[in-house]
Amino acid sequence: MDKSLEIDWRMRVFDSLSFPTLILRPNRIIVSVNQKMLEKLQVSKSDVVGKTCRDVFHTYFNDPDLPCTHDTCPLDKTLRDGVGNSILRQIRLDDGSSYWEDRVFSPILDDTGRAIYVIESIRDVTRTKTLEKIFHDIREFMDRVVQSSASGILAADRSGKILLMNQAAEELFGYPFTATQNMTVADIYPEGVAKEVMKKLRDEAYGGKGKLPVTRVNILTARGEKIPVEMTGAIIYEDDREAATMGIYNDLRERLAVGKKLEEAQTQLIQSEKMASLGRLAAGVAHEINNPLTGILMYGSLIQEKLAPDHPLLPSLGFILEDAERCRDIVKNLLAYSRQSSTTRNSFSLNTLVEESLRLIRDQKLFMTVTISRNLSSDWMLVYADQNKLSQVVINLIINAIDAMNRQGVLTLTTYRNDETGMACLEVSDTGCGIPKENLSRVFDPFFTTKEMGKGTGLGLSTAYGIAKDNAGDISIKQTGPNGTTFLLEIPLDHESMEMMSESIG
Ligand SMILES: Nc1ncnc2c1ncn2[C@@H]1O[C@H](COP(=O)(O)OP(=O)(O)OP(=O)(O)O)[C@@H](O)[C@H]1O
Ligand SMILES: [Mg+2]
Repeated sequence: MDKSLEIDWRMRVFDSLSFPTLILRPNRIIVSVNQKMLEKLQVSKSDVVGKTCRDVFHTYFNDPDLPCTHDTCPLDKTLRDGVGNSILRQIRLDDGSSYWEDRVFSPILDDTGRAIYVIESIRDVTRTKTLEKIFHDIREFMDRVVQSSASGILAADRSGKILLMNQAAEELFGYPFTATQNMTVADIYPEGVAKEVMKKLRDEAYGGKGKLPVTRVNILTARGEKIPVEMTGAIIYEDDREAATMGIYNDLRERLAVGKKLEEAQTQLIQSEKMASLGRLAAGVAHEINNPLTGILMYGSLIQEKLAPDHPLLPSLGFILEDAERCRDIVKNLLAYSRQSSTTRNSFSLNTLVEESLRLIRDQKLFMTVTISRNLSSDWMLVYADQNKLSQVVINLIINAIDAMNRQGVLTLTTYRNDETGMACLEVSDTGCGIPKENLSRVFDPFFTTKEMGKGTGLGLSTAYGIAKDNAGDISIKQTGPNGTTFLLEIPLDHESMEMMSESIG
């Protein structure tokens, strides 16, 4: 082939390169320059060819920071190493704008491997650098969003290895992200839960494939504590392949506690409203029955006195009076429940009340097979209340406990002071059958009984409730279950009398 034609062809290629390019000798003299470079520098070939790169670029850039020392010169480096290298530079223009250049130096080697020429081409990488910066800024912003989220965020790779944990997740789980090196997502849930979560994530019917709608689960903290959380999750796909998973967690403890308190308050409100309306009803019935009953008893007694001792109707009259007296007892209890009966108060010790009540029923056969355990506090517990009525309350609690144990078991009577509430407390515990959940809200209702006909009227606890309230106290079920029940009776401590007595003793 004609040699001149060959050179012409190479020059054409060189000229048509889309990057500004020039060819340098090892002594930095520019031997050739392509059209793109001339356009970029806005000079003619004769301004460049035969000059050194320093002359040209110093004039062109007027840039004192050009890497032109022996150590920094990329041309020298290419000559030294015999391989290409590049430098990335941000060029600032007079108008304040800037752009990025990547200057690539490639050696042309002779047969011995020595660089005899170096090709320098300039690529404008401003677009790539701008995208890189946008990408970097977005990443940084996303990181900040994730880190500042109040919800715990956690991501893991396909094998379950934890890749990311934000600050809220570190607080929720109780360990820093750095401590998760040897952990997988299986370790952050109680046994079996991680599998269940993954199953739901993959289930199309459950929020769509790869998505977990808001779900309640338990997580496991560093201290081994199970915490209820509300979580959502997602599988992150790469070309249809599962690449990672992520979960967002919100602690439910506070919300559940508030919900429970609200529920309890609602139940209590309903219960006290019910007790109040039942009290009004009981008071109404008791008053209405009281008057005719007084008449029956009075006229019955009069007739009884007038009849001869052998009168054939005398036994029948006796039955009438007996039943009328039972009715009067019921009315008395109803009045006590509705807090309509009169009270006689005095100051006495709670322990004395317990001993006195026990003494009153001590001889009854029903005690024979029950073990009584007294756990009476040595603290001074004076209360100012109606002792007779409170004794009635204690006796009913004891009889109820013995009935619940079917007369076999341990009856424990515990007293103590609760200085926080200012109450003297008595707990009556049994090892009996417990109260079923469905009866819990009804045991204080008048006439609620589970005892067989004729055995209980169902007025014991309702009367106890009325008496406790009438004495500014309270009665409640502290605990109940298949192993027994504990009733708690609280009566205000009589601080005044206690102070007076301690002064007189002192
Ligand atoms: N300690 C207890 N263990 C289990 N259930 C109990 C206990 N105390 C009370 N109950 C339940 O509460 C119901 C109501 O008790 P309450 O004392 O008001 O009436 P009663 O004992 O049935 O009848 P009364 O006291 O009028 O003779 C009882 O029938 C029983 O079902
Ligand atoms: Mg009873």
